[in-house]
Amino acid sequence: MSDPVVATAYDPKGMKFRYLGNTGLQVSVFSYGGWLTIGGTQKGNVVKELLKAAWDNGIQTFDTAETYSNGASEVEMGQALKELGWPRDEYVLTTKVFFGTGRKEPNTRGLSRKHIVEGLKSSLARLQTPYVDVVFAHRPDPATPILEIVEAFTQTIRNLNLAYYWGTSEWSAAQITEATLLAEKHNLIAPVVEQPQYNAFHRERFEIEYAPLFQQWGLGTTIWSPLASGLLTGKYNDGIPEDSRFATNKAFFENTVKELQSEAGQAKIEKVRKLTAIAGKLDAKVGHLALAWAAKNPNVSTVILGATKIEQLLDNLKALPLIDKLTPEIMEEIEAVLDNKPKGPATFGRQQR
Ligand SMILES: NC(=O)c1ccc[n+]([C@@H]2O[C@H](COP(=O)([O-])OP(=O)(O)OC[C@H]3O[C@@H](n4cnc5c(N)ncnc54)[C@H](OP(=O)(O)O)[C@@H]3O)[C@@H](O)[C@H]2O)c1
Repeated sequence: MSDPVVATAYDPKGMKFRYLGNTGLQVSVFSYGGWLTIGGTQKGNVVKELLKAAWDNGIQTFDTAETYSNGASEVEMGQALKELGWPRDEYVLTTKVFFGTGRKEPNTRGLSRKHIVEGLKSSLARLQTPYVDVVFAHRPDPATPILEIVEAFTQTIRNLNLAYYWGTSEWSAAQITEATLLAEKHNLIAPVVEQPQYNAFHRERFEIEYAPLFQQWGLGTTIWSPLASGLLTGKYNDGIPEDSRFATNKAFFENTVKELQSEAGQAKIEKVRKLTAIAGKLDAKVGHLALAWAAKNPNVSTVILGATKIEQLLDNLKALPLIDKLTPEIMEEIEAVLDNKPKGPATFGRQQR
């Protein structure tokens, strides 16, 4: 018989933790995800080394999806997690269903009850694990009634024990509200977390549209592309480096690269340069500033880091001590450079209580 006593393997180092919204689940404020990297540009032993470097520096939350590299991200992450052998109760694993794994049959993608259950079961098989902590609906599905979606995710949690919580990714506030109210009405499980893009160049939805969801339900968030795919590290200031994401995933980022050459794109680069000067005053790099800026928002539960190399991951973790150094004065300086603070709807002189 195996020993029922599990020895602690996790050392949080200086990591900070936040509750995933209104749940009792704690996530490290920086987590690590596998879009384009794990199972994409990175395979085999290096994946294990990347996960270990994250874990050794206090990251205990990991994110993937059925669609990342058509399932290869889950395969690689699952194999690495198996070999690393960490106690399952010490880390948080999240995956997402919707896009499928590149197959074209009518029911191998979307958010029908069939694909939510079968897609998640296939994800778990690739990950070699009986459950994930959070399963996300990777996009809204206009073809499936929201009640069916809420019922299906409830089933994965309540009846099948395939996940503990469910969330949405890039759903509108109206869709999240509808799902939540339907769950309340029908005694089903509501989504507790959204996974949106959020970074210094992409703010509107997070800061304005979702504000009522944070206020009313304490919705958690696991935010993606905090560095705008690397733009906020300054690596694209003078062109596209050969081994960078915009070069290694050329077709996907074609429009992004085109936009960078436009007036609007050059204005973004100029802002990165100005932010670099602010970061310098704090003995930090602009990427650290961008990550700390995102983590500073109290509605962010965790900032998902993407990194192809261990050096990048370790570099990004230098943002951790910077969060507390972003004083209101520095935040104002950053705001002045960004000059993109989204405006909410008119209040006609009536402030929210
Ligand atoms: N729900 C969704 O729809 C959705 C969408 C996208 C992502 N996500 C999740 O969010 C995670 C993070 O997103 P992301 O990868 O786009 O994050 P990101 O931080 O905006 O971009 C990460 C990329 O930037 C570059 N980079 C990172 N750190 C760097 C450093 N210190 N110096 C120089 N370059 C650096 C690396 O690319 P190169 O080395 O290749 O240049 C890296 O892969 C994903 O892994 C995934 O789990 C979710």
